[in-house]
Amino acid sequence: MTTKIGDTKQDLLQAATLLREGSLVAFPTETVYGLGGNALDREASRKIYAVKGRPSDNPLIVHLAKWEDVYSIAYPTKQAKALYDAFCPGPLTMILKKLPIVPDETTGGRDTVAVRFPSHPVARALIEAAGVPIAAPSANVSKHVSPTTAWHVYNDLEGKIPLILDGGASDVGIESTIVDLTGDEPTVLRPGDITAEEIKAVLGSADYYHGEIKEALAPGMKYKHYSPRVPCYLAKRESLESAYESLKAQGTTPVLIATAETIDLHPALNAISLGRDARDAQHRIYGALREAEKFGAAIIEDLSDRKEYFAAMDRIKKATGGNVL
Ligand code: TXA
Ligand code: MG
Repeated sequence: MTTKIGDTKQDLLQAATLLREGSLVAFPTETVYGLGGNALDREASRKIYAVKGRPSDNPLIVHLAKWEDVYSIAYPTKQAKALYDAFCPGPLTMILKKLPIVPDETTGGRDTVAVRFPSHPVARALIEAAGVPIAAPSANVSKHVSPTTAWHVYNDLEGKIPLILDGGASDVGIESTIVDLTGDEPTVLRPGDITAEEIKAVLGSADYYHGEIKEALAPGMKYKHYSPRVPCYLAKRESLESAYESLKAQGTTPVLIATAETIDLHPALNAISLGRDARDAQHRIYGALREAEKFGAAIIEDLSDRKEYFAAMDRIKKATGGNVL
């Protein structure tokens, strides 16, 4: 199969037709690119798992265009409506009790469904044109870095899907915040651009899930994720240079991934910039991790002393998988 990248109205209409016919299409969202299929078609969901090489116990997020659409797939709660009014369309996913119409293949056999209303205009236009809810995980091969451009998707899925809609670089750059609204308290299962504090300001309570991610939570969080195909190490600001030199001494060509401010202090080192603030870092991290694959190893600045980098650090810790230098 040849994979086309397109950005015209015609391409959008073709994508909608492909989705209605049960095929898969990659499309841009404000967080990362998604690999979409008709969420109500169990065969389409099966194809998503096959194309990504993803374990089928890891459920998919269902993308909708507007609030009213939620009634066709889930039992919305007052809290869900309040969060919708505050943050949607935008980078937030809510876990709700599902209606029977959503097949087990889409929800990994659960009685809940993850619902999201993306703000990217191409994503919204595609959902409207397809006329069906769209199940979409990030459009990367399972365990690789999530894609934030059409070319990232092409590099992972070329030959496996017919069409990639190109909507430019994803603005947010990391996946949506996931909040579970089915328990006693709203619980944030995956950090993202919308923080638990912001959710708490709307609902009165909300916290990050602190325990180990087990079966009943977001199953995706238990897998090693977001890993570039080179060794990645986390290092404190003061150890970056020595970490770099020790890798070099072992014959590797390392690259430093750090804030612009930190890179300025190490002008002689190969470096990829995460920019000037936490928003920049979220926007750039996945591109930086893919860029690092051109080198022998990546050393990433530990930013966990700065609260605003919490969501970016969540992804960095997953990429480094506990490797510290
Ligand atoms: O920003 C995003 O959310 C992107 C874009 C494409 O919308 N999508 C995305 O999907 O990140 P994915 O499949 O890479 O991550 C979905 C996460 C997984 O950790 C999965 O386990 C969790 O959502 N999830 C999905 N349905 C769930 C459910 N019913 N209960 C608990 N967790 C669920
Ligand atoms: Mg993913």
